[in-house]
Amino acid sequence: MSLICKPLFEHDSSTFTYLIADSVTREAAIIDAVDSMIDRDIELIQELELDLKFIMETHIHADHITSACPLKKTFPLAKIVIGIENIDAEACADIMVGEGHILPIGKHEIVVIETPGHTPGCISYLVDNKVFTGDSLFIRSTGRCDFQGGSASTLYHSIHKLFTLPDSTLVHPGHDYNGFTVSTIGEEKEFNSLIRLEFDKATFVNKVDNLNLEPPKKIKTAVPANHSCGLIKN
Ligand SMILES: [Fe+2]
Repeated sequence: MSLICKPLFEHDSSTFTYLIADSVTREAAIIDAVDSMIDRDIELIQELELDLKFIMETHIHADHITSACPLKKTFPLAKIVIGIENIDAEACADIMVGEGHILPIGKHEIVVIETPGHTPGCISYLVDNKVFTGDSLFIRSTGRCDFQGGSASTLYHSIHKLFTLPDSTLVHPGHDYNGFTVSTIGEEKEFNSLIRLEFDKATFVNKVDNLNLEPPKKIKTAVPANHSCGLIKN
Protein backbone atom coordinates (compact mmCIF):
# COMPACT_ATOMS: atom_id res chain seq x y z
CA MET A 1 0.00 0.00 0.00
CA SER A 2 2.64 2.47 -0.98
CA LEU A 3 1.86 6.09 -1.66
CA ILE A 4 2.11 7.37 -5.20
CA CYS A 5 3.49 10.93 -5.14
CA LYS A 6 3.89 12.89 -8.36
CA PRO A 7 5.42 16.37 -8.04
CA LEU A 8 4.34 18.47 -11.04
CA PHE A 9 5.69 21.89 -11.99
CA GLU A 10 4.25 25.06 -13.57
CA HIS A 11 6.97 27.35 -14.87
CA ASP A 12 5.32 30.80 -15.00
CA SER A 13 4.72 30.93 -11.24
CA SER A 14 7.28 28.22 -10.28
CA THR A 15 4.44 26.35 -8.60
CA PHE A 16 4.51 22.73 -7.51
CA THR A 17 1.31 20.71 -7.80
CA TYR A 18 1.29 17.32 -6.11
CA LEU A 19 -0.76 14.33 -7.16
CA ILE A 20 -0.82 11.74 -4.37
CA ALA A 21 -2.62 8.41 -4.34
CA ASP A 22 -2.91 5.03 -2.66
CA SER A 23 -1.24 2.62 -5.07
CA VAL A 24 -3.76 -0.15 -4.35
CA THR A 25 -7.15 1.55 -4.01
CA ARG A 26 -6.18 4.32 -6.50
CA GLU A 27 -7.93 6.94 -4.34
CA ALA A 28 -6.13 10.23 -4.94
CA ALA A 29 -5.78 13.88 -4.00
CA ILE A 30 -4.30 16.79 -5.90
CA ILE A 31 -2.70 19.68 -4.02
CA ASP A 32 -2.47 23.21 -5.46
CA ALA A 33 -3.43 22.50 -9.06
CA VAL A 34 -2.85 25.37 -11.54
CA ASP A 35 -5.40 26.45 -14.16
CA SER A 36 -3.01 26.52 -17.12
CA MET A 37 -1.89 22.93 -16.44
CA ILE A 38 -5.34 21.37 -16.19
CA ASP A 39 -5.01 19.27 -19.37
CA ARG A 40 -1.74 17.73 -18.14
CA ASP A 41 -3.24 16.98 -14.75
CA ILE A 42 -6.46 15.43 -16.09
CA GLU A 43 -4.48 13.27 -18.51
CA LEU A 44 -2.17 12.03 -15.74
CA ILE A 45 -5.06 11.23 -13.37
CA GLN A 46 -6.83 9.30 -16.12
CA GLU A 47 -3.67 7.59 -17.36
CA LEU A 48 -2.91 6.29 -13.86
CA GLU A 49 -6.58 5.30 -13.43
CA LEU A 50 -6.87 7.28 -10.20
CA ASP A 51 -10.09 8.01 -8.34
CA LEU A 52 -9.76 11.70 -7.48
CA LYS A 53 -11.32 12.25 -4.04
CA PHE A 54 -9.89 15.60 -3.01
CA ILE A 55 -8.84 18.81 -4.78
CA MET A 56 -6.85 20.52 -2.06
CA GLU A 57 -5.54 24.04 -1.63
CA THR A 58 -2.84 25.07 0.83
CA HIS A 59 -4.13 28.67 0.70
CA ILE A 60 -5.59 31.42 -1.49
CA HIS A 61 -2.84 31.93 -4.06
CA ALA A 62 -1.82 35.34 -5.38
CA ASP A 63 0.44 34.26 -8.22
CA HIS A 64 -1.71 31.80 -10.15
CA ILE A 65 -5.33 30.72 -10.47
CA THR A 66 -6.33 27.33 -9.10
CA SER A 67 -7.97 24.76 -11.36
CA ALA A 68 -10.11 23.46 -8.48
CA CYS A 69 -13.55 24.31 -9.89
CA PRO A 70 -12.68 23.42 -13.50
CA LEU A 71 -11.26 20.05 -12.32
CA LYS A 72 -14.59 19.25 -10.68
CA LYS A 73 -16.24 19.36 -14.10
CA THR A 74 -14.17 16.31 -15.07
CA PHE A 75 -14.16 14.72 -11.60
CA PRO A 76 -17.56 15.68 -10.16
CA LEU A 77 -17.25 13.43 -7.09
CA ALA A 78 -14.02 15.11 -5.94
CA LYS A 79 -14.32 17.48 -2.98
CA ILE A 80 -12.61 20.88 -2.90
CA VAL A 81 -10.70 21.28 0.38
CA ILE A 82 -9.40 24.55 1.86
CA GLY A 83 -8.43 25.91 5.27
CA ILE A 84 -11.25 27.00 7.55
CA GLU A 85 -9.97 30.57 7.87
CA ASN A 86 -10.58 31.25 4.15
CA ILE A 87 -14.16 32.41 4.61
CA ASP A 88 -14.15 34.11 1.19
CA ALA A 89 -13.88 30.65 -0.40
CA GLU A 90 -16.56 29.03 1.76
CA ALA A 91 -19.18 29.16 -1.00
CA CYS A 92 -17.12 27.17 -3.49
CA ALA A 93 -15.32 24.77 -1.13
CA ASP A 94 -16.82 21.40 -0.18
CA ILE A 95 -14.78 20.83 2.99
CA MET A 96 -13.31 23.53 5.22
CA VAL A 97 -10.55 22.01 7.33
CA GLY A 98 -8.65 22.96 10.47
CA GLU A 99 -5.89 21.58 12.69
CA GLY A 100 -5.89 17.78 12.87
CA HIS A 101 -8.62 17.22 10.27
CA ILE A 102 -8.01 13.87 8.55
CA LEU A 103 -8.77 13.18 4.90
CA PRO A 104 -8.33 9.52 3.95
CA ILE A 105 -7.08 8.28 0.59
CA GLY A 106 -7.15 4.49 0.67
CA LYS A 107 -5.03 3.34 3.61
CA HIS A 108 -3.27 6.71 3.89
CA GLU A 109 -4.35 9.66 5.99
CA ILE A 110 -3.83 13.27 4.97
CA VAL A 111 -3.55 15.27 8.20
CA VAL A 112 -4.12 19.03 8.23
CA ILE A 113 -1.59 21.23 10.06
CA GLU A 114 -2.56 24.89 10.37
CA THR A 115 0.43 27.00 9.31
CA PRO A 116 -0.77 30.63 9.11
CA GLY A 117 1.62 33.50 8.42
CA HIS A 118 2.06 33.79 4.64
CA THR A 119 -1.72 34.23 4.77
CA PRO A 120 -4.01 33.77 7.79
CA GLY A 121 -5.62 30.72 6.16
CA CYS A 122 -2.52 28.75 5.15
CA ILE A 123 -2.45 25.05 5.93
CA SER A 124 0.05 22.24 5.33
CA TYR A 125 -0.78 18.60 4.68
CA LEU A 126 1.08 15.69 6.31
CA VAL A 127 0.86 12.30 4.60
CA ASP A 128 3.02 9.43 5.85
CA ASN A 129 6.58 10.86 5.93
CA LYS A 130 5.84 13.80 3.63
CA VAL A 131 4.67 17.29 4.46
CA PHE A 132 3.26 19.57 1.77
CA THR A 133 4.02 23.03 3.07
CA GLY A 134 2.47 25.35 0.47
CA ASP A 135 3.91 28.85 0.85
CA SER A 136 4.78 28.43 4.53
CA LEU A 137 8.13 26.65 4.32
CA PHE A 138 10.22 26.63 1.15
CA ILE A 139 13.55 24.91 0.57
CA ARG A 140 16.12 27.19 2.27
CA SER A 141 13.49 29.96 2.37
CA THR A 142 9.90 30.73 3.41
CA GLY A 143 6.80 32.36 1.98
CA ARG A 144 6.57 36.14 1.97
CA CYS A 145 4.30 37.94 4.43
CA ASP A 146 3.78 41.37 2.86
CA PHE A 147 0.20 41.03 1.52
CA GLN A 148 -3.08 39.09 2.03
CA GLY A 149 -2.89 39.70 5.78
CA GLY A 150 0.51 38.03 6.11
CA SER A 151 2.46 38.06 9.39
CA ALA A 152 6.09 37.03 9.75
CA SER A 153 5.65 36.71 13.50
CA THR A 154 2.81 34.22 12.98
CA LEU A 155 4.76 32.36 10.29
CA TYR A 156 7.70 31.93 12.69
CA HIS A 157 5.50 29.94 15.09
CA SER A 158 3.93 27.92 12.25
CA ILE A 159 7.30 26.86 10.90
CA HIS A 160 8.54 25.98 14.37
CA LYS A 161 5.47 23.75 14.62
CA LEU A 162 6.58 22.03 11.39
CA PHE A 163 10.06 21.73 12.91
CA THR A 164 8.60 19.40 15.58
CA LEU A 165 8.01 16.78 12.87
CA PRO A 166 10.72 14.08 12.62
CA ASP A 167 13.90 15.34 10.95
CA SER A 168 13.51 12.73 8.23
CA THR A 169 10.10 14.12 7.12
CA LEU A 170 10.28 15.08 3.45
CA VAL A 171 9.42 18.74 2.75
CA HIS A 172 7.49 19.32 -0.47
CA PRO A 173 7.10 23.11 -0.95
CA GLY A 174 4.48 25.05 -2.90
CA HIS A 175 7.12 26.82 -4.95
CA ASP A 176 10.79 26.71 -5.74
CA TYR A 177 12.66 29.46 -7.55
CA ASN A 178 16.14 27.92 -7.36
CA GLY A 179 15.82 24.48 -8.93
CA PHE A 180 15.27 22.52 -5.72
CA THR A 181 12.55 19.89 -5.55
CA VAL A 182 12.47 18.27 -2.10
CA SER A 183 14.10 18.76 1.30
CA THR A 184 13.73 17.41 4.83
CA ILE A 185 12.70 19.00 8.11
CA GLY A 186 16.19 18.25 9.47
CA GLU A 187 17.88 20.02 6.56
CA GLU A 188 15.69 23.10 6.87
CA LYS A 189 16.29 23.33 10.62
CA GLU A 190 20.01 23.38 9.90
CA PHE A 191 20.36 25.29 6.63
CA ASN A 192 17.26 27.45 5.92
CA SER A 193 18.56 30.93 5.17
CA LEU A 194 15.60 32.68 6.88
CA ILE A 195 14.54 30.39 9.70
CA ARG A 196 17.19 27.84 10.64
CA LEU A 197 16.86 26.85 14.31
CA GLU A 198 19.66 29.12 15.49
CA PHE A 199 17.77 32.26 14.32
CA ASP A 200 15.47 33.84 16.89
CA LYS A 201 12.04 35.26 16.09
CA ALA A 202 13.21 38.88 15.80
CA THR A 203 15.90 37.87 13.30
CA PHE A 204 13.37 35.97 11.20
CA VAL A 205 10.79 38.76 11.27
CA ASN A 206 13.42 41.31 10.28
CA LYS A 207 14.61 39.18 7.36
CA VAL A 208 11.11 38.41 6.05
CA ASP A 209 9.86 41.97 6.47
CA ASN A 210 12.80 43.21 4.38
CA LEU A 211 12.65 40.83 1.44
CA ASN A 212 11.58 43.74 -0.83
CA LEU A 213 9.97 41.51 -3.45
CA GLU A 214 7.93 42.72 -6.41
CA PRO A 215 4.18 42.00 -6.08
CA PRO A 216 3.08 38.86 -7.99
CA LYS A 217 2.11 39.82 -11.55
CA LYS A 218 -1.32 38.17 -11.36
CA ILE A 219 -2.31 39.23 -7.84
CA LYS A 220 -5.23 41.42 -8.94
CA THR A 221 -6.89 38.64 -10.94
CA ALA A 222 -5.66 35.57 -9.07
CA VAL A 223 -6.86 36.43 -5.55
CA PRO A 224 -10.51 37.15 -6.50
CA ALA A 225 -10.61 34.12 -8.83
CA ASN A 226 -9.20 31.89 -6.08
CA HIS A 227 -11.85 33.13 -3.65
CA SER A 228 -14.19 31.33 -6.10
CA CYS A 229 -11.94 28.23 -6.27
CA GLY A 230 -10.85 29.19 -9.78
CA LEU A 231 -14.26 29.95 -11.20
CA ILE A 232 -13.76 33.23 -13.04
CA LYS A 233 -16.86 35.41 -12.83
CA ASN A 234 -17.60 37.65 -15.81
FE1 LIG B 1 1.01 32.09 -1.91
